[in-house]
Amino acid sequence: MNLTTRPTVFSGAQPTGQLTLGNYLGAMRTWVQMQEQYDCLFCVVDLHALTVRQEPEQLRNNIYELTALYLACGIDPERSVLFLQSHVAAHAELAWLLATFTQMGELERMTQFKDKSQQHKHNINAGLFTYPILMAADILLYQTHKVPVGEDQKQHLELARDIAIRFNGLYGPTFQVPEPLIGTDGVARVKDLQNPTKKMSKSAESDLAKVMLLDEPAVVVKKFKKAVTDTLGVIRYEESEQPGVANLLNIWCAATGQSRVEALAHFDHNQYGKLKLETAEAVNALLSPIQSRFQAFNADREMLRRVLARGAEQARQRADQVMARVVEQLGLPGRS
Ligand code: TRP
Repeated sequence: MNLTTRPTVFSGAQPTGQLTLGNYLGAMRTWVQMQEQYDCLFCVVDLHALTVRQEPEQLRNNIYELTALYLACGIDPERSVLFLQSHVAAHAELAWLLATFTQMGELERMTQFKDKSQQHKHNINAGLFTYPILMAADILLYQTHKVPVGEDQKQHLELARDIAIRFNGLYGPTFQVPEPLIGTDGVARVKDLQNPTKKMSKSAESDLAKVMLLDEPAVVVKKFKKAVTDTLGVIRYEESEQPGVANLLNIWCAATGQSRVEALAHFDHNQYGKLKLETAEAVNALLSPIQSRFQAFNADREMLRRVLARGAEQARQRADQVMARVVEQLGLPGRS
């Protein structure tokens, strides 16, 4: 595909807590592959993280760690724009403009807002409420065609589309209307190891429920050994009857690159103990190079700052063009 006509992909993750194996297999790994075909922007959405109270030193650390992890997983700043949301002022600026095209009722319907305001009853701030508008601004600022996101972000993406369509309808073609890219081929939906009908979430209470990308090998083995299975004692792929076993098989396949048929042949007539151990080993083999790259990148804060500064420069250039068009359409006199 011609470099200049590649469709644009935008995605972001919040710098809160560490990433899980589920985040990697379900999202990050696809982002890395997308760099081949798309014009990609990957953003550390630090402004979104502020909707929940953060400790400054911890937040700063999380931001650099997530950047180092992006790089360690294979996001290549030579091919993609890797940047920090707060470095590009246009995100917050466009969010204000888009807020005037968003109805209270639309925000009130967002299930994530309902959940989060339950979890943070003492701090139901306006940012938590307008969070989806900032997300719409992130996406629309770059004329994004495709947004790889998890199922849980689908509703936010729908809103971004509605806002774009509404604006275009009122002021003429301005924004590209983005499409979600959810659960594309080859994406593993990794489940909670203790409760394999739920997705593996970084906010799960039990440590045993989730494998973190930076977990040490012995910890990974321990978590898989304690993974919940069933009492049937046969290794089959029966998602509804044996969700724990299906999850282990999915993870083994995703980590080794082998198919389900190959997995079933490989584990035929074996016991759960072997499935657990080999899955842990496959995951450790997958994580080990990521972890060593992470250690090196994370130790080099100067390099991380340079990468982010350059990414911000590239993002700003693109964002400025779109902002110029938006203010023009709205009737705000331009700055130059
Ligand atoms: N809300 C997303 C999440 O929590 C993160 C995010 C912010 C995002 N802006 C985005 C994802 C733009 C995709 C595109 O997962």
